[in-house]
Amino acid sequence: MILGSGGREHALANKIKESPLLGNLFVLPGNPGTSAVALNLPGNPLDFEFVKHQILAFNIDVVVCGPEVPLAEGLMDAILATDWEVKPILVGPCQKGAQLESSKAFSKEFMKRHGIPTAAYKTFEKNELEEALEYLHALSPPIVLKASGLAAGKGVLICEDHIQAELELIALLNGRFGEASQTVVIEEFLHGIEFSAFILTNGKQYALLPEAKDYKRIGEADTGPNTGGMGAISPVPFVDAALLDKVRDRIIQPTISGLQQESIPYKGFIFFGLINVNGDPFVIEYNCRLGDPETEVILPRLKTDLIALFVAMEDEQLNEINVETNPDFAATIMLVSGGYPGPYPKGKEIHLPVLNDEKTMIFHAGTKEQNYMLETDGGRVLAISSMGKTLAEAVQKSNKIAEEIQFEGKYFRRDIGKDVEAFVL
Ligand code: AMP
Ligand code: GLY
Repeated sequence: MILGSGGREHALANKIKESPLLGNLFVLPGNPGTSAVALNLPGNPLDFEFVKHQILAFNIDVVVCGPEVPLAEGLMDAILATDWEVKPILVGPCQKGAQLESSKAFSKEFMKRHGIPTAAYKTFEKNELEEALEYLHALSPPIVLKASGLAAGKGVLICEDHIQAELELIALLNGRFGEASQTVVIEEFLHGIEFSAFILTNGKQYALLPEAKDYKRIGEADTGPNTGGMGAISPVPFVDAALLDKVRDRIIQPTISGLQQESIPYKGFIFFGLINVNGDPFVIEYNCRLGDPETEVILPRLKTDLIALFVAMEDEQLNEINVETNPDFAATIMLVSGGYPGPYPKGKEIHLPVLNDEKTMIFHAGTKEQNYMLETDGGRVLAISSMGKTLAEAVQKSNKIAEEIQFEGKYFRRDIGKDVEAFVL
C-alpha cells in the first residue's frame, strides 16, 4: 500500500507494479494515474485509524509512505503500537526519525553533533530576538533564514541584505508560519550547485539510489518564487564518482552512525538535499521520504526490484543487494496550473496525447476524473518523464509531450537541464 496522491506516488506505483513479488497494489488515496496500475482507496493518510483499518482489511504486507506529514505526525508509530501478530514492512520512519525533516533545529544540531558538513548556523526562539539580530549582523549577506518546522517548502528565505533579513526574522518569530516558525534557524549562504542523493536504509545499512537535480523556481533560469519542484534530471552530470564517495563518507555514513548512536530507529528513505561547494558536498536539508518530482526520474532509472529492496531493508540484507541503474538519462517536466505557486483555478479539462514512445511516461500529480473527463486538481498537474541516451534527448522528448498536452493555463519550464549542459561531455 502506497500512501499519497501525487506524481511521486504514481511513479512508485508504476515501479512496484513491475515487481514479480507483487500480489496486489493499493494506493491511499491515489489519483487517476495510479488507478491504472493499482486499486485506489479513497481516504486520508492522516486518518491513522482508517489507514490501520485498511491495512488489516486488505492484508497489506508493505506500507510505503510518500509524503512527510503522516510520518512527522506519527503514522508509523501508530501502526507499530498495534497488537497485531504480524506487522507490515513499514517504509518510512517513526516520528523521531522524521525529525530529520520536520525540525530544522533538530537536523542542524544532529549534523553538528556528528560532524556532518552543513552551513554554519544558530537557532533562536521568539524571546531571543536580540541575540538573533546580533548573529544575523555577524554574517555577510545573502543571509538564510529558515522556519524550523514544516512549512510546505516555503519556510526558507534568502535575504539579500541585513535590513531585509531583520524584517523577515521579526515576521518569522512573530509566527508567519504559525508554530513552524516559533523557532528560526539563521545560517550562512553556501555558494555552489545543488543536487540530491537518496538512500533506502534500515538505520544500519543502506542502498544508494540514483542521484537527481531538481528545479525549484517557477521561472526559467531559476527566477521567481519557489515551488514544490518544476522538473528534475538524473543522473546529474557534475556528480562524479569522487563527489559521490565524499557524499558516502562524509554525509551518508555519519548520518546512519549518528542515528544509531542516538538510538533513533530508522526504516525508509532519506533524501539528502546537497550543495557542491568547490568539490565538497554540504547538506542543505534532510527529507524523510523521496522527493517529488525527483522520484519521477530516479525510479525510471532503477533496474533493481523495489519490493526486493524493501524486503532486504527489513531483513537487514541491504549490503547484499547490488543496486543496478540504467546509465541513460531521465528528465521530468512538471506541467502546472496558471498562477501556481500562487492561487490557481482547478477543474480545467485535460487532453492527453497518445504516447507512442515507451520511454516517455505521464505521471499524474494533481488531476481528478469528473464525468469521465480528466481535469486539473492541483498546482502541479502532470509530470512528463522521459529516458534518453543523452540528457538533451530525454528533455526534448518530455518537452514534446509537454507541448502536446492541453489544458487552460498550462505552464512549464522549457529550460530543465539547460544549466548543466556545460558538464555533459
Ligand atoms: P530547504 O527547504 O532547506 O531545502 O531550502 C530551500 C532552498 O533554499 C534550497 O534548495 C536552496 O536553494 C536554498 N538554501 C537553503 N539553505 C541554503 C544555504 N545555506 N545556502 C544557500 N542556499 C540555501
Ligand atoms: N522536490 C523537493 C521535495 O520533494 O522536497
